[in-house]
Amino acid sequence: PADLQRLIEAGIRDVPDFPEPGVVFKDITPLLADPASLKAVAEAMAAPFDGRVDAVVGLEARGFILAAPVALELGAGFVPVRKAGKLPAKTYRESYDLEYGTATVEMHVDAFAPGSRVLVVDDVLATGGTGRAAVELVHRAGGTVVGFSVLMELGFLKGRDRLTGVGVHALTEA
Ligand code: PRP
Ligand code: MG
Repeated sequence: PADLQRLIEAGIRDVPDFPEPGVVFKDITPLLADPASLKAVAEAMAAPFDGRVDAVVGLEARGFILAAPVALELGAGFVPVRKAGKLPAKTYRESYDLEYGTATVEMHVDAFAPGSRVLVVDDVLATGGTGRAAVELVHRAGGTVVGFSVLMELGFLKGRDRLTGVGVHALTEA
């Protein structure tokens, strides 16, 4: 809806040269700080998946912020995918390439029951490395990925190409 698009446009600010020269950072903190925008975004990220989600997987750190209200909206539980070394019990681990080096993320092996219908939530889809790793973790735990819901997709980075077979739902594209 036009109303949601207006809130998103007003709430995401471009910060030039962050975290390094030449990169324009998409800062969603103004949107999160606005009560009406936070509510509208959580509702819109959840809506296409209503009635078919058992667990919402949120991706540390910025994905956590949106995944919890999306889970409440869907009547689903919340499951964290965390950066390596943070989760206390037995985990599955997945590594993926960054521009320099690799990153590793983990999820508890018993985070949800096998056969659970899982929605993965993050703030931004960029190259798709983070999302791909999360999808692998869900599969290893015996879950079915019903979709990958993000606030924003950076289309020029072609992250969708790394997420074949996963329904990507983005509220806005940059
Ligand atoms: C950012 C963003 C996404 C990811 C997208 O997270 O929040 O999770 O990058 O990039 P990709 O599609 O190329 O994997 P970041 O790793 O900067 O960490 P943060 O969420 O903890 O700030
Ligand atoms: Mg992130």
